[in-house]
Amino acid sequence: MKHFLKETDFKPHELGEVFALARELKAKRGRHTSAVLAGQTWATIFSKSSTRTRVSFEVGIHELGGNPLFLNKNDIQLGRGESVEDTAKVLSRFVHGLIVRTFDHGEVERLAAAGTVPVINALTDFLHPCQIYTDAFTMAERWAAPGGDLVASLRGRKIAFLGDTACNMANSWILGANLFGMKIALAGPAEFAPGAELKAQLKRENFPVDSYQFTTDPFEAVRDADVVYTDVWVSMGKEEEKAERIRQMSPYAVTSKLFAAAKPDALFMHCLPAHPGEEVEQAVLDNPRSIIFDQAENRLHMQKSILAVLAQSVRK
Ligand code: CP
Ligand code: NVA
Repeated sequence: MKHFLKETDFKPHELGEVFALARELKAKRGRHTSAVLAGQTWATIFSKSSTRTRVSFEVGIHELGGNPLFLNKNDIQLGRGESVEDTAKVLSRFVHGLIVRTFDHGEVERLAAAGTVPVINALTDFLHPCQIYTDAFTMAERWAAPGGDLVASLRGRKIAFLGDTACNMANSWILGANLFGMKIALAGPAEFAPGAELKAQLKRENFPVDSYQFTTDPFEAVRDADVVYTDVWVSMGKEEEKAERIRQMSPYAVTSKLFAAAKPDALFMHCLPAHPGEEVEQAVLDNPRSIIFDQAENRLHMQKSILAVLAQSVRK
């Protein structure tokens, strides 16, 4: 049985299948119904807000013939102190998979260890792997020849990540760049350089600890970049640090001038929600090379592919 808690839970030789299935499901949407989750219920346990992740998973499970069951953490006993392990064991008796958005990354690992059904990480403070796979797929749609190898089209490309370079998206993109053979440069305040938890993860994965570039100069990071990427400066759970973060990160806003310093055909990407006037200028969000809404849509297609592949692993 397979879980999807971090980028590397699919091995390089499995990526082709996951990406190709996402492309097929996207092309066939509405014309072809897949019953890969027929008779199954997948629970989504959310401890944080969500628009894209919650809706794309609920719609995706439904479109695969399954039944999505939304559980707000505070509506179940987990929110009143029932243990993560007991929750995993009990829910495993009822449902066929768990999709979990929470704070502590250890919580998704403990659910996976104690339960007997696949667990998908729908964002933790440490990683957001569903977003990274979707983003990579969205880039590859632009770069691969029609019907060509999506994963191969990523190799050697450069992504520049600006702003909160210690957040879940930055961590996930460092792991993702290693997995997909991409180069990554991150620019943010020195205090927000990628941290010890990420470095330990790189070591565990046998990825080089210096496999990313970190700089405090945003123009250096975007030089020769194929993608300029940013995320909110105040992630969920960091609201109390808002004023200080905005002060520290304001030199890293993606302005039209900064975007123009990347490759002439560079794409702009953002996992959303965006805060125009903070991490990105409205003009950049509206630029014809901004593909933010393709990214959002592709959450559905990529997650349906991930669900289908995990469901297959249960039957094997
Ligand atoms: N990008 C993303 O995960 O969005 P939501 O927080 O709306 O799910
Ligand atoms: N870094 C952001 C991502 C939101 C999708 C957060 O954790 O709030």
